[in-house]
Amino acid sequence: MNAGRYIGLVALIGAALVLVVSGQENPVAGNTAAIQEGASLFRANCSPCHGLNAQGGGRGPDLTAGRWVHGSSDADIFRTITRGVPGTEMRPTG
Ligand code: HEC
Repeated sequence: MNAGRYIGLVALIGAALVLVVSGQENPVAGNTAAIQEGASLFRANCSPCHGLNAQGGGRGPDLTAGRWVHGSSDADIFRTITRGVPGTEMRPTG
């Protein structure tokens, strides 16, 4: 995944949360273009498991329910996406 796509993905997640990634402010917080790109990336890469609106699909959990098994901060979610969840279908991305 190239840098632009990576930033778009971070923007997607960051848009819904307090904006801290690895101890720094999310550099694309509120960036409409990045958020739209992130949404497009989500549809392409994540929706097959998490559903088109991230409300859960056959293979992945609901990401809109406010329940975060692997941590809810931007830094936690950033880590979950980039490293994946070992032993599950949630693979590393980025
Ligand atoms: C092949 C199916 C699959 C794909 C594709 C996938 N995921 Fe997941 N994802 C899962 C599963 C299964 C879990 C639950 C892992 C577990 O058992 O804790 C998960 C967990 C997560 C979590 C952690 C939720 C929590 O409770 O902490 C996040 C965040 C997440 N996914 C985001 C994404 C994003 C963003 C993408 C696209 C880049 C993506 N996933 C693509 C299957 C998938």
